[in-house]
Amino acid sequence: MQIQENYSLKNYNTFGIDAKARYFVEISSVAALHAILQLDRGYPAKFVLSGGSNMLLTGDLDALVLFINIKGIEIVSETDEYVRLKVMAGENWHEMVQWTLEQNYGGLENMSLIPGNTGTAPIQNIGAYGVELKDRFVQCEAMAIASQEIRSFNKEDCQFGYRDSYFKNAGKGKYIITSVTLQLTKKGHVLNTSYGAIETELKTARVEPPTIQAISRAVIAIRKSKLPDPKVLGNSGSFFKNPVINKEAFKIFNSTHPEAPFYKVSEQTYKIPAGWLIEQCGFKGKRYGDAGVHTKQALVLVNYGNATGAEILALAKHIIDAVATKFDIAIQPEVNIIGN
Ligand code: EPU
Repeated sequence: MQIQENYSLKNYNTFGIDAKARYFVEISSVAALHAILQLDRGYPAKFVLSGGSNMLLTGDLDALVLFINIKGIEIVSETDEYVRLKVMAGENWHEMVQWTLEQNYGGLENMSLIPGNTGTAPIQNIGAYGVELKDRFVQCEAMAIASQEIRSFNKEDCQFGYRDSYFKNAGKGKYIITSVTLQLTKKGHVLNTSYGAIETELKTARVEPPTIQAISRAVIAIRKSKLPDPKVLGNSGSFFKNPVINKEAFKIFNSTHPEAPFYKVSEQTYKIPAGWLIEQCGFKGKRYGDAGVHTKQALVLVNYGNATGAEILALAKHIIDAVATKFDIAIQPEVNIIGN
């Protein structure tokens, strides 16, 4: 384990922000994580980094950055119908999904091409095209930062919600997830093609009946058409969450904006696509220096090259204010803002 000083994080966050870590160390095993957490004297606060796909760095980090790069996929149990996989935290999510599809394991196909690593997937309960991590989740293991003990969290412990979990709330900053166990199907795959765009893609590809691999290809095609590739254009996926508003607020909103898309979440709550709200405020495709709003999906903020985290954050605040003024709806970042 080599501890580096004043280390640039530009290649470790998908926004491509050039912030520096006071100290940086790559962790490739659970034992190494245990060791570094025990040896904390002399170092400032710790900061956990993995895929760096859901964060905005707004300045240098006066911290010991722990880059979690623990690899491995293991079958922990299986029957004729299903398989349970223990995936170590540092496995790239999309590569892991593609591997499961090569084995003909079903369940993750709708979540193809989501950036980031597997260990951070439970933190915000990643999801796409009608499926969320929680739907395939069995348990995860995490090391308590204070005691270095490994604790198992089942689905209930994780308190999953829409882009939300225990690890974003009461458990924030207390644990480092080391592995995630998922349950997938080996046969009788349950296909989720309810998202209109998937059906259209499958029809174009003329795959009949659809397979899990074809759904994955459809999802990849849809995502590529809307979402920028972080290797080409720095971004963190959806920058904001879709706001969920109560029935009364929805009635007012819907009567003044009958053309707006919405999803009914429950009898009392409705979700409004933040991308639509932002586009209506005129931000889609706008660029302010190197910070901008993606041309094809207004929910995604982008770094055209040398934007600072502070510039992206200023743009985000500007958007939040504009949406509040025009629609009286508060939108919130989905990404973690790191720094001031
Ligand atoms: N829309 C606009 N203008 C825009 C963008 C969207 O009018 O610029 C409208 C669309 O026309 C559509 C609606 O908003 O009617 C929803 O758009 P879309 O299907 O693209 O999905 P989203 O709600 O913007 C969410 C997730 C994505 C996920 C997709 C598909 C959140 C915050 N985002 O986006 O997740 O891939 O659904 O399931 O829930 C992410 O979390 O990083 C992410 C990319």
